[in-house]
Amino acid sequence: MKILNLYFSSTGNTEKIARQITATAEGLGHQLDKVKIAGDQELDLLDYDFIFIGSGVYQWLPGKGLQEFIQKRLAHYASTGEINFASPRRQGKKAVVYCTYGGAHTGINEAIPAVKYMGQLFDHLGFEIVSEWYFIGQYPAEGRFKEYSTLGRLGDIQDRPNAADLKEVAARVTGVLRV
Ligand SMILES: Cc1cc2nc3c(=O)[nH]c(=O)nc-3n(C[C@H](O)[C@H](O)[C@H](O)COP(=O)(O)O)c2cc1C
Repeated sequence: MKILNLYFSSTGNTEKIARQITATAEGLGHQLDKVKIAGDQELDLLDYDFIFIGSGVYQWLPGKGLQEFIQKRLAHYASTGEINFASPRRQGKKAVVYCTYGGAHTGINEAIPAVKYMGQLFDHLGFEIVSEWYFIGQYPAEGRFKEYSTLGRLGDIQDRPNAADLKEVAARVTGVLRV
């Protein structure tokens, strides 16, 4: 099974999750490609059987680099005839979509659009979305976001994702790779 671990990370939170995904999958004997998205990489998603895709949440959406990647891949697959009416399923192709988010204002509601946005590329391509994960990620500890990690709707989220979060990532990765 070919696995891709694709992610965007601006302040390093999603990168921690992505590293745990790699470590867990490799520990289970899988090989995977880990790619940090910067914008317009030409990556053939259809080469892979199982894709993890994740990003930090920025104004309710994934990071700009990942948005750009999704837009360009969508245009590419539309032009090559890989995206068709009714999005027929592709046998055996699966994706897990996740984000890290701070939720200072409306909690998980501000992360849901980001995950749905990323997932639609794969749904359009006919992948089964096996799971959607929401992990908490602290805001930058210094500067204008300082209080966001203590006064927001999720309470004190300093130092997230923490060791317990990463343990949960490992358990979930183990679970979905059995699907
Ligand atoms: C400029 C900026 C904007 C952010 N906007 C949101 C937001 O709209 N909603 C949210 O839940 N979290 C928001 N966050 C928190 C990030 O989503 C969170 O810290 C995430 O874990 C960052 O992931 P990354 O470091 O992998 O990019 C924001 C953080 C920054 C720095």
